[in-house]
Amino acid sequence: MQSLLNKKILLGISGGIAAYKTPELARLLIQGGASVQVVMTEAAQQFVTPVTMQALTGNPVYLSQWDSTIPNNMAHIELSRSADAIVIAPASADLMAKISLGLADDLLSTLCLARDCPLLIAPAMNKQMWEHAATQRSAQRLNANGVALLGPASGFQACGEVGMGRMLEPSEIAEQVIAFFQKKSLIGKKVLITAGPTFEAIDPVRGITNHSSGKMGFAIARAALEAGAQVHLIAGPCTLETPLEASGKIIRTNVTSAKEMHTAAMNAADCDVFFAVAAVADWGIAKPSKEKIKRQGKEAPNIEFNANPDILVDVAQTAKTKNGKPHPYCVGFAAESTDLEAHASEKRKRKGIPMVVGNIGPDTFGSDLNELLVVDDAGSKKIAKAEKLQLARQLIQLVAKKI
Ligand code: CTP
Repeated sequence: MQSLLNKKILLGISGGIAAYKTPELARLLIQGGASVQVVMTEAAQQFVTPVTMQALTGNPVYLSQWDSTIPNNMAHIELSRSADAIVIAPASADLMAKISLGLADDLLSTLCLARDCPLLIAPAMNKQMWEHAATQRSAQRLNANGVALLGPASGFQACGEVGMGRMLEPSEIAEQVIAFFQKKSLIGKKVLITAGPTFEAIDPVRGITNHSSGKMGFAIARAALEAGAQVHLIAGPCTLETPLEASGKIIRTNVTSAKEMHTAAMNAADCDVFFAVAAVADWGIAKPSKEKIKRQGKEAPNIEFNANPDILVDVAQTAKTKNGKPHPYCVGFAAESTDLEAHASEKRKRKGIPMVVGNIGPDTFGSDLNELLVVDDAGSKKIAKAEKLQLARQLIQLVAKKI
């Protein structure tokens, strides 16, 4: 699925070394289905050539407000009227200052002032320039004017310093542009998600866990945030970064065992939608040893298990009926080795929940790709193989229609 299909993006490039990454951004936007029109400042042309951008986008590149090839000679009006969004990457400190004050002395800044479409900018500069009070004031003014700031990130800089001011990677900018165009179907809704594996300790150094990477649950968290929801993500042991943390709309609770995940989920069960994506251990160790169990002179130990609570069932049992629908709306996941549809339907009935999503394919753990089978009261429906984030976006829109 191309998430930017039929979108026209005006890609502005200002002067900064990060401009060497902008051709890759153009390529990713085009791959997403967008048509891309490039406008460059004079300084940008010191870092990347108009020929490169023209070859990649298949469109002429505009460099001046005095371009006589535009029929009415008003490039700033013509170009901004035909765009669904203006994306500037990199946005230099100078350009940020200029557009935050409404100055318009070249084609790109004039376009920004004359636009009637959203403006998204990806700042890129040396950390001292980013931290300077004047740049921070520019950023605040831009925020107040409704301009979306994508980044910057922190890390190694071209000047050899390390700190805040790096342009986001092209893939992250492209993802944020896609996110910007997502339907805001969960505004005002609270979404609770369990994700990743659990770990049941045998002793202080050993334990029982599973192959869940957490990627699907984290992708659902991101897609829910993109749709405008407030998200509480309860994560088992995994190293994934919290999605869109800077949005301030996500709470993450890290847990280890199934019992801890159960407690955290029950404390947060007052929500609109619950996605139980975690691969929860069905059994915990009855008496974990406080000390490491030594091998020497010992037989293989007999480990006694006891059943863990079913988080999904317990949250579903707190559900009330609101406008004729269960509240929270609970979505379970099923990874099966055989008869996916039959097992998913059985699980839906047994757990008393309205929707179960089955993972199709044996390679789902750890992979970035997946294929889903959604089973609800209307029957079953496949969501074709795609990246987990794309699947999550489709699933969020499906669930949003249900609540
Ligand atoms: N689940 C849960 N708490 C548990 C076990 C499972 O919340 N203790 C949730 C999972 O997050 C998933 C769904 O229940 O959404 C199905 O999990 P699965 O392990 O497939 O189901 P089980 O009930 O354990 O059934 P079985 O192992 O027999 O397939």
